[in-house]
Amino acid sequence: MSSDAARDLEAWIPRLISVWRAHRASRSKGGPRHQQQHRGRPQFEENEPTTRLTPQEVKEVGAGIKRLSHGLTRERELAGAKYMDDPALLGAYLLFYWPVSYAQSRSLLSELPARPRSLLDLGSGPGPLAFAGIDAGASETIAADRSKPALDLARQLAIEASEALGTREWSPERALPEGRFDVITMGHVLNELFNGDIEKRAALVEKVLERVKPGGSLVVMEPALRDTSRALLQVRDVLVAKGYAVRAPCLFRGACPALIKPSDWCHAERQWRMPQLTETLARTAGLHKESLKMSYLVLAPKGETWAEPPTGRVLRIVSEPLEGKGRQRLMGCGPEGRIGLALQDKHRNDGNAKFFYLQRGEVIRIGGVVDEKGDGAGLNDQSTVEIIARAGQAVPKP
Ligand SMILES: C[S@@+](CC[C@H](N)C(=O)[O-])C[C@H]1O[C@@H](n2cnc3c(N)ncnc32)[C@H](O)[C@@H]1O
Repeated sequence: MSSDAARDLEAWIPRLISVWRAHRASRSKGGPRHQQQHRGRPQFEENEPTTRLTPQEVKEVGAGIKRLSHGLTRERELAGAKYMDDPALLGAYLLFYWPVSYAQSRSLLSELPARPRSLLDLGSGPGPLAFAGIDAGASETIAADRSKPALDLARQLAIEASEALGTREWSPERALPEGRFDVITMGHVLNELFNGDIEKRAALVEKVLERVKPGGSLVVMEPALRDTSRALLQVRDVLVAKGYAVRAPCLFRGACPALIKPSDWCHAERQWRMPQLTETLARTAGLHKESLKMSYLVLAPKGETWAEPPTGRVLRIVSEPLEGKGRQRLMGCGPEGRIGLALQDKHRNDGNAKFFYLQRGEVIRIGGVVDEKGDGAGLNDQSTVEIIARAGQAVPKP
């Protein structure tokens, strides 16, 4: 995540806390805060810190995060349920998952070929992707969700930040908001729709793509769990088979090779400057958010072609370093498909040393001599490794 995005996220923390406190006060017993809630900036006790939570608040939010985390990532009994309408869970979402989704989204928006001016955020919840779009330069932004309380919080946040945000009630069986957009985002929502039906999800994505302006993008982001990631790849394959082009992260134009083995999947991992609030709440709830992990797809509207890959043998790193005695191993995926890459320590030299520091998501060019092996490439002391895009950067044109 860029330093600009990290700074923007820090500015959101007091707004999230302020809106959360107003929301919490309004549901406990009404009173002055409740009455002020819709009229502007809420008033607080003087001793309440504005950039952090009190120990009692941390405890309360931590309990909500544990329930949410269990329901959305472990047992998944909340996926598809109306958890945003439960005030405690919505509050936990706002204070913990909102900054994570915001940071993930900023990191994906930086990969787009152009800055969005108009943006529609579907399944917005309280709007982390919508506000990430605004901070990335969008001037006309709509957040759409089926949860009225979540949209209400998004509106409160817009007031706190003095930003313009439109909100619409939306669910897949209703019409999409009017108009066409430079960017449409769908953050962590597709996996909650249609009870796992891939064809129905793909049909929705196709319908949404009709609302993307030429040259624009649909950004779909999902949790980096094996099942949700594989389901996203299956949706990708339906669309790719129909001729849609993927702008990122795929360089391979065929059916996704990560789906061949049921144990494989593909996800991104990005570094970020974790806000103090997130660190405190993660520790309380026993979760880890040191890096941002998500699965994503950036799709082009109908009729647009895949970008030409850069010249040479180009691959995106799609794994973390894999164990190997006396050698570094990684998985790469490029125009040729998904292959294993390996380099022995003894062959390390100035031309290939970068291989030992590669990170998931980076795009590299391999040159020189490489030993071709059935499903992989063995680099040696005559191979060269060049990084042509860092994780989160657009791949340069040839
Ligand atoms: C995990 S939250 C994601 C919120 C936000 N986009 C983010 O990435 O942090 C999923 C959102 O999808 C919404 N959602 C779930 N099923 C929906 C449906 N059938 N129609 C509209 N929205 C739905 C929920 O209300 C919730 O706000």
